[in-house]
Amino acid sequence: MTIKAAVFASGAGSNFEAIMEANDLKCKISLLVCDKPGALVIDKAARYGIPTLVFNPKEYGSKSEYEEMIHRHLQHYGISWIFLAGYMRLIGDTLLNEYESKILNIHPSLLPFFPGKDAIGQAYDAGARETGVSIHYVDAGMDTGPVIAQESVMIEENDTKEKLKERIQKVEHQLYPTVINQVLSNKVR
Ligand code: GRF
Repeated sequence: MTIKAAVFASGAGSNFEAIMEANDLKCKISLLVCDKPGALVIDKAARYGIPTLVFNPKEYGSKSEYEEMIHRHLQHYGISWIFLAGYMRLIGDTLLNEYESKILNIHPSLLPFFPGKDAIGQAYDAGARETGVSIHYVDAGMDTGPVIAQESVMIEENDTKEKLKERIQKVEHQLYPTVINQVLSNKVR
């Protein structure tokens, strides 16, 4: 039976696109969930013909209220896995309980270093020599769940934040689909 997954994203959607373009992905991306009306990723989903749930969290009384709404959509589409790709929001108890150990996130640093927003800028401004990409299971904290895979990216002497971001994203686009496939084939515990 085909495994159905949803991508949650709020931004440009380059990781969403990389997942969509991956060869032999072991699941079908059946829904995009986006909390930012107007985000570029919405147009990308439309180009791939992927149904999109766009919502504004401010229109809900609480996280559990909008997560219950999201959950109804996930059920409707038969979603069993969630891949966060630039979804800038903590996942709450409602989805964590329904999708225990079934939510992955990609983060542009070698966790536990530089969690949270602007991880690339944080590493660059700290003068780190090395940063990278982490893929981890999602828990209630900010980028704190168990790490599944990491790949490092060196920060060169004449780097700019933009050049560093380009190299990090190149790694992200390879690593995320690869790790998704490993997790879905039970090659990771
Ligand atoms: C990526 O760098 C990802 O690691 C982080 O948010 C960024 C999303 O970029 N969580 P994009 O929208 O996939 O281009």
